[in-house]
Amino acid sequence: MGNDLKQAAIAVRENAYAPYSGFKVGAALRGVSGAVYCGCNVENVAYPEGTCAEAGAIAAMVAAGETSFSEVYVVAGSPLPVTPCGGCRQKLAEFGAGDVRVTMATTGGTEEVRSIADLLPGAFDPSFLGA
Ligand code: THU
Repeated sequence: MGNDLKQAAIAVRENAYAPYSGFKVGAALRGVSGAVYCGCNVENVAYPEGTCAEAGAIAAMVAAGETSFSEVYVVAGSPLPVTPCGGCRQKLAEFGAGDVRVTMATTGGTEEVRSIADLLPGAFDPSFLGA
């Protein structure tokens, strides 16, 4: 994992808008082109309208014209490495292969690495659409 990805996730976390939970999250992913895309959580007073850091990074990648990434780094100020929510696991699986490494981290520097396939066994994928 390149150190640039880690630094990008730590930096974007500072911009997280999390006045309700107080829980800031930063995510950075590397598109297959090599470009790095970042996202942070953006909460809303209508709580369900909030978005996760991973979703923001994916949106930035797609807006830039890429639809595939090779690694992800997610960081939060939690006691244990932050684990992507269920919805974000499905979002990651849309654009990352099963063997893509997801590094989950604390701001204190503890890291845990899991693959996308590990995080979302039995994923709903296009084969179910029968198309
Ligand atoms: N959150 C993320 O942005 N990513 C995760 O992987 C876990 C949770 C956000 C959503 C919400 O703004 C806050 O963390 C508390 O759940």
